[in-house]
Amino acid sequence: MERRRGDSYLGKDFSEPAGLPEDVHVSKKIECTDCHQTGPDGMGHIERKATCQDCHIEVEQAMTASVHKNLACEACHVKILGGYEMTSWGPGSVTGKPNPFKKYSLYYGPMEPPILIKDQNKRWIPTKIWPNSAGGIKETVLPKPGLIFRWPKGETHDAYAQLGTFSFPGGNNNYLAWLQVEQVAHPLGKSRTCGSCHDSETQVGRVTWHYFDNQGAEPFDGSQKVVADKKGIRVMDIKATSKVTLMEGGKVENFAAWMKLGDIWKTSGDFSIPKSDAGKYRALDKGMRDALAQLEAIDRKLKAREAKGEDVKKLRRRWKEAKAAAMHEPGSAGVLIQETAGFAK
Ligand code: HEC
Ligand code: HEC
Ligand code: HEC
Ligand code: HEC
Repeated sequence: MERRRGDSYLGKDFSEPAGLPEDVHVSKKIECTDCHQTGPDGMGHIERKATCQDCHIEVEQAMTASVHKNLACEACHVKILGGYEMTSWGPGSVTGKPNPFKKYSLYYGPMEPPILIKDQNKRWIPTKIWPNSAGGIKETVLPKPGLIFRWPKGETHDAYAQLGTFSFPGGNNNYLAWLQVEQVAHPLGKSRTCGSCHDSETQVGRVTWHYFDNQGAEPFDGSQKVVADKKGIRVMDIKATSKVTLMEGGKVENFAAWMKLGDIWKTSGDFSIPKSDAGKYRALDKGMRDALAQLEAIDRKLKAREAKGEDVKKLRRRWKEAKAAAMHEPGSAGVLIQETAGFAK
């Protein structure tokens, strides 16, 4: 999972793997509690729900009139994710003692881009999705269709798919398999392009990872794809991309059961991006370009006045708001733009 301590907000050396981008707000000295309210449990406890409107009210307003009003801000503004990409439970040693359920989870790597799902309130949110298996399960568990939200009433938007139990000859049978589907929210930055969501109704998240547990095998690399479309969600083409050298006592069926389990990570349901009406799509794209052209013209006038030493700070702020609104819903930004233009003569 994401480490859940804001590593993905800080990025760089703090992210797993290291070197992912930091959130755009880090350099603005914005802190966790500027977005997350502190909760009733006192100091150090932050609420999970976060707000943007304190600082981007014009965007929030523009969004209410947009075709994207059912998308979370993060759906467009989060492009890459870190953290676990695979987990395999099996015999190993935990704090020096043998344990039948050691968690081999140090498969770290980026996934890009996130997969969008509709949460309990039918709002589109970005998620990270990865395969899990736990060996040594005696009972048989049947699969369930689709996704199951961990908190049906919406306290969190994390979900999972119950895939059932599987076995293979010589394996640590049975293996309980599931897909973890976790909401993600950092790092925020520039938006994804329109085409990255709309060029195809099928979503594809590309994943690369590095295995570096101190048990099982020497460090090695691998990759997989997460595909979400009209037929469901599935993890495809899981493979090692460098040589796997076992450590003493290391067994593939424990630290890498995925190598033997095959093509089992899939669940049903419609997870495609709805096909948008071509006319509406062009109109929105053109509306944005027209608004930006108008704003550029106003910008030149403002710059000329700034160069003469005039104080146009208020207008400049208004102009920035108009631009931010225009990039989310050009229709609703019209009034803002006209205001700025009127003053900017
Ligand atoms: C710019 C605003 C913003 C800032 C600053 C911010 N977050 Fe978040 N964070 C969000 C949003 C939005 C969500 C998703 C909330 C939801 O709807 O559940 C979120 C979700 C989370 C979650 C749960 C999901 C996840 O991605 O793990 C954690 C944990 C979290 N934030 C921790 C932090 C910590 C710790 C910091 C500071 C280091 C921080 N956040 C700073 C906006 C922010
Ligand atoms: C405490 C104020 C504050 C809050 C709260 C806040 N932001 Fe920001 N945000 C900023 C500032 C300041 C900038 C930089 C703006 C600039 O450079 O003009 C910024 C920039 C951005 C950018 C621009 C990224 C780019 O490079 O184009 C995005 C996207 C963004 N914020 C999204 C969000 C989202 C989503 C939330 C809520 C989860 C949020 N912000 C909450 C202050 C805030
Ligand atoms: C459908 C995709 C989409 C959604 C949803 C979305 N944005 Fe954006 N946003 C964009 C695009 C495109 C831009 C322009 C390119 C960029 O700077 O990322 C942008 C730019 C921004 C900027 C920078 C504006 C500037 O002046 O440079 C901020 C701040 C921002 N968005 C905040 C938000 C907030 C807050 C939300 C949720 C209320 C949100 N966005 C939802 C697509 C989106
Ligand atoms: C992060 C993915 C994402 C990005 C980026 C994105 N969209 Fe969308 N868009 C969606 C989703 C999801 C819907 C469906 C919304 C719903 O179900 O309410 C949608 C809906 C639409 C619709 C309405 C569809 C209809 O026929 O009623 C149009 C038009 C559209 N998008 C155009 C654009 C344009 C133009 C851009 C770039 C400026 C863009 N989108 C960027 C995900 C995205």
